[in-house]
Amino acid sequence: MTTLVIGGAGYIGSHVVRLLQERGDKVIVVDDLSTGFASRIGDAELLELDVTRPDAAEKMAFAMRKSGADSVIHFAAHKQVGESVAEPMMYWHDNIAGLANVISAARTAEVKKVVFSSSAAVYGMPDVELVEETLDPKPINPYGATKYVGEWMLADAERAYGMRTAGLRYFNVAGAGWPELADTMVMNLVPIILDALEKGKAPIVFGDDYPTPDGTCIRDYVHVLDLAHAHLAALDYLDRDERAHRVFNVGTGKGSSVLEVIEAIARVKGIEIKPEIGPRRAGDPARLICATSRIEEEMGWKSDKTLDDIVRSAVEAR
Ligand code: WQD
Repeated sequence: MTTLVIGGAGYIGSHVVRLLQERGDKVIVVDDLSTGFASRIGDAELLELDVTRPDAAEKMAFAMRKSGADSVIHFAAHKQVGESVAEPMMYWHDNIAGLANVISAARTAEVKKVVFSSSAAVYGMPDVELVEETLDPKPINPYGATKYVGEWMLADAERAYGMRTAGLRYFNVAGAGWPELADTMVMNLVPIILDALEKGKAPIVFGDDYPTPDGTCIRDYVHVLDLAHAHLAALDYLDRDERAHRVFNVGTGKGSSVLEVIEAIARVKGIEIKPEIGPRRAGDPARLICATSRIEEEMGWKSDKTLDDIVRSAVEAR
C-alpha cells in the first residue's frame, strides 16, 4: 500500500506517517513545513508544497502517479477557531482550495481512497448528552464551517468520480505517541496548562459557572496515537465497505472537565496546581462528548487510552 499523507509533517499527520511506516506501507508526505517539521517523517519522501497553490493539484497528481499511491490522507489545513473568526477568508480560501486540489489530484491519478480530517467543530454548540453523527451540524465559526463544507465536497466527489471517502470528526486531541512528534503549538488546553506551569504562571479556567458537576466545561479528550490508529482503520474500512461517503466521530465517549484535566496534570507531575478562574470564553459549549458506536461498529476502532495516559505522554514529551 502506498499513501500520500498531506500535512504529514504536522502533529497528527506525523503520528499517522509513523504508524503507516511501522506496518510496512510506503508513505509520501506533502507538506509546506509552515507548521510541520521534516524531522518528524522518518525516511518518508517529502514533497514540499503549499496545497492551496493553483499548480498543487498537478504536482500532487504527478507524485501520486509516480509513487503508485492508492490512498490519500489529507490533514493540511488551518485549524484555529479564533484565527478563523478574525481571518475568515484565509480559512475559506485555503481550507477549501487545498481540499479541492487534493480531490482533483486524486481524480487525475485515479487514487480511489481519501480520508479527510474533519472536526467536532462542525457540530457547533449541540445541546445533547452525546453527539451522534446523525445530528445536524451547525458550525458556529468559519473553521468548523470549512470542515463541514469539506465533507460535502468529498460526498460530491465520491458520487461523481467513484472515489471512496471518509471524514473523521476529531474531538479534543492531545498527548504524544512519541516525544519527538509532540504538539509544539500552545493552542489547546493541555499544552496551554503545561506552558503556563513551565513559566511559573497559574493556568486559567475559562468559566466555572457552567451547568456541569464542577462548573467547568467538559470535553472528550482523545490520545493522538489512538486518533492516528483511527486513520489506518479508516483506510481498511474504505477497502471493504461499499457505503457512500461517511463521517465518523473520533473520541472516547468519556468527558473530562477542565478541572479534571488540571487534576490529572497535577497527579502526573506530582505537584499541586492552583488555577485561576477567569471569565467564560465566547462560543464554548458546556459539554461536548461524542457517541462512539458508529466508528466502533463500522471500523472496529476504539480508543484505549485514558486521560492520565494522554497527560503523561504530553508531560514526558516536554
Ligand atoms: C478545551 C477546554 C476551554 C484553555 C478546539 C476546537 C475544536 C477542536 C479541538 C480542531 C474548553 C478550556 C482552554 C485555557 C481553559 N479543534 N480552556 N483554559 O475549544 O474544546 O476545541 O480544539 O478541530 O474544533 O474548537 O479546545 O483546547 O481550546 O479548550 O479553561 O487556557 O478548555 O474553555 O472548555 P476546544 P481547547
